[in-house]
Amino acid sequence: MKANDYIAIEKQYAANTYKPLEVVLEKGEGVWVYDVEGKKYLDCLSAYSAVNQGHCHPRLIKVIQEQAQQLTLTSRAFYNNKSAMFYKKLCESTGYDMAIAMNSGAEAVETAIKTARKWGYQVKKVEPDKAEIIVCHGNFHGRTITIVGFSSESQYKADFGPFSHGFVTIPYGNAKALEAAITPNTVAFLVEPIQGEGGVIVPPMGYLKKAYQICQRHQVLFMADEIQTGLGRTGNLFACDHERVRPDVMILGKALSGGFYPVSAVLVDKAVMGLFRPGDHGSTFGGNPLAAAIATEALAIITDDGIIENSNQLGMYFQERLAEIPSPYIKEVRGRGLLIGMELTAEAGGARRFCEALQDKGILCKETHHHVIRFTPPLVVTKEIIDWALERITEVLVDVQ
Ligand SMILES: Cc1ncc(COP(=O)(O)O)c(C=O)c1O
Repeated sequence: MKANDYIAIEKQYAANTYKPLEVVLEKGEGVWVYDVEGKKYLDCLSAYSAVNQGHCHPRLIKVIQEQAQQLTLTSRAFYNNKSAMFYKKLCESTGYDMAIAMNSGAEAVETAIKTARKWGYQVKKVEPDKAEIIVCHGNFHGRTITIVGFSSESQYKADFGPFSHGFVTIPYGNAKALEAAITPNTVAFLVEPIQGEGGVIVPPMGYLKKAYQICQRHQVLFMADEIQTGLGRTGNLFACDHERVRPDVMILGKALSGGFYPVSAVLVDKAVMGLFRPGDHGSTFGGNPLAAAIATEALAIITDDGIIENSNQLGMYFQERLAEIPSPYIKEVRGRGLLIGMELTAEAGGARRFCEALQDKGILCKETHHHVIRFTPPLVVTKEIIDWALERITEVLVDVQ
């Protein structure tokens, strides 16, 4: 079958909730993906930063094959050898006391919200049902009802109400607004260190530190959603590391499994996580032996293989070179590490057509927020490949009329 045949079938049978580029992929290896007609592309999206380790990493293939023949799912009704070792590795690699494993990113965010509320009622002694969580304008934390309920994006919530109460929205990047919004009922501040889906919005340097200090002063948990920014993407293990901030609650997903399996987690110290009791929370698949084996190895690849430093070095290089492209359509290039956004001018006519032109040249990118092209290759990319991509990106930005 040809690409168009697959596209027609998917359009007929799958819910129309995305607007993919017209490319049908069948194989991935490192930074490269191949379509059903054999054309090779540089993946500059990395499944929204879930394949930081590169596609089909050989170490992960080995682990998934071995573990699939051993034990895949027990539920948490029983202990299993892989989960225990995963929790240990996760906590030791990140410096948190405890973790809870879930599946999707949105589930981890929901889990963090429950964690903060429980702590608010039991430790901060907020009156029953009065807990408030402060969130930021432009946030993206997933697609559950609770989470879209506090999105500022009207399409994410239109026709999906009613929503949960207890969320207060403030401008992103403004620490004073955070302090002003805190009340005795505030239990947590939920923030992305860089807003990825919001258009790769990088807050002013010092913002995270100030926000963290304000949270500390007011007995409010600082909860970082590092589902997209974490695990090396920004050139540090976590984006909060750039400001030496250690969030009270760390939320991870995506690259935690190197793209092999949905694995997410919430990391918290014992004083907070220790409040959970049997029956308070759960997930049939969360932290299952297959997920745990994959995530243990995926985490090891991130921390062992020098790819965090690669992301840091090549991220700076890529960003600088992109900013030098002489195109009237480029308004700004921003980001940190290999989380890079190129914002186009209003005259450019939207980022989509540039993504389509890049596809023709063998580079897969996706527009975010209409005017931003996101460049987020797997962190195992090399300088030579970035130079190869820059030539093509330049042609597209200079030639497209
Ligand atoms: C910052 C952030 N939080 C949460 C999510 C939701 O993750 P998932 O799609 O796995 O539910 C995403 C996904 O893009 C994200 O970027």
